[in-house]
Amino acid sequence: MSDIFTKLSYQTFQQGKNYFGFAHKTLSTQIRNLLYPSLQPDVAPLSKELITQLQDRLNQLWETDWQDAQTGVYPQNLLFDNPWEDFFRYYPLVWLDLPNIWERIKNRRYQDFSQEIATDIYPNYYLQNFHYQTDGYLSELSANLYDLQVEILFGGSTDAMRRRILSPLKSQLAAFDHIPQGQLRVIDVACGTGRTLKLIRAALPQVSLFGIDLSPAYLQKANELLLQIPGELPQLIQGNAEELPYRDDYFHAMTCVFLFHELPAPVRQTVMEECFRVTKPGGILIICDSIQVNDAPEMELAVNNFSQTFHEPYYQHYSTDDLVERLEKAGFERIETQVHFLSKYLVAHKPSY
Ligand SMILES: C[S@@+](CC[C@H](N)C(=O)[O-])C[C@H]1O[C@@H](n2cnc3c(N)ncnc32)[C@H](O)[C@@H]1O
Repeated sequence: MSDIFTKLSYQTFQQGKNYFGFAHKTLSTQIRNLLYPSLQPDVAPLSKELITQLQDRLNQLWETDWQDAQTGVYPQNLLFDNPWEDFFRYYPLVWLDLPNIWERIKNRRYQDFSQEIATDIYPNYYLQNFHYQTDGYLSELSANLYDLQVEILFGGSTDAMRRRILSPLKSQLAAFDHIPQGQLRVIDVACGTGRTLKLIRAALPQVSLFGIDLSPAYLQKANELLLQIPGELPQLIQGNAEELPYRDDYFHAMTCVFLFHELPAPVRQTVMEECFRVTKPGGILIICDSIQVNDAPEMELAVNNFSQTFHEPYYQHYSTDDLVERLEKAGFERIETQVHFLSKYLVAHKPSY
């Protein structure tokens, strides 16, 4: 009885976030169309059939999320985790920032950074206002708004998508069950504001956790988040995934969430090769990223709309890129893929030799 009640609460919670995201997108689009009629993107509307398919995929994601908690992949309370304090503090700023975003789109300024940000130390491909975000990934404001903006985009299901890495992560780490958990090293590459590290910590409380990202502001935010949870603080480092500052064969497992669609193709390859270098023989790399056209041909319109509506300069190429071939070229083998809602997952093994 209590399980039925908890499940209903979980579904209501998710549905509530989904309605909220929809309401925000509808209202902000209407205001934008009123104030900036020229900014309406030239995209085909989604058919009723496609919207139904999207809702079915979302329901399936929630069911899998619920089931994984039931089978103990992670604690049930993770299903209800939400950064409420950030929501009440920063949601008004999401609205206040919208006119800046609209001005940027109108003037086609997609590499627009506040003057005080030192941009010369970053690779050129990174200096973009991804999703038209103010200051790209390079300011405190951006770090404070990012999770809210992504939650609105995915109708409150971003963590549910991130959590899909946890089941393969736990089951594949079983290959190292002769090693005490505290000696297992897991890194989240491009850890951003630390949401994935928080989820991994809940599922694997003892492992040594590491995170790396290019953005100092996002790492600062990740640090604030991770300080609040029990357990050893993950070791966070600012650095480029193209040149991971770790020795060969160091990590038992690596995760990487929502990075590859934001990299140009050659950089995608370099990052996979770096991940291969620092993964232990017998270890794994788990990637979570956007679905690609081949994963769900019926979603092609939604995938194309995404690259048109948001500033995602490398997404078009990503959407048809052969990630399995790239991982194999990097040296990985036995690559398994899964799809959940709007994300795909690749679990790649480094041979044990
Ligand atoms: C779309 S966000 C995803 C963040 C996080 N993984 C999540 O689940 O929300 C992309 C992240 O990749 C980081 N990033 C982009 N290129 C990078 C690179 N070459 N090396 C390290 N981090 C990078 C950005 O700073 C940003 O935090």
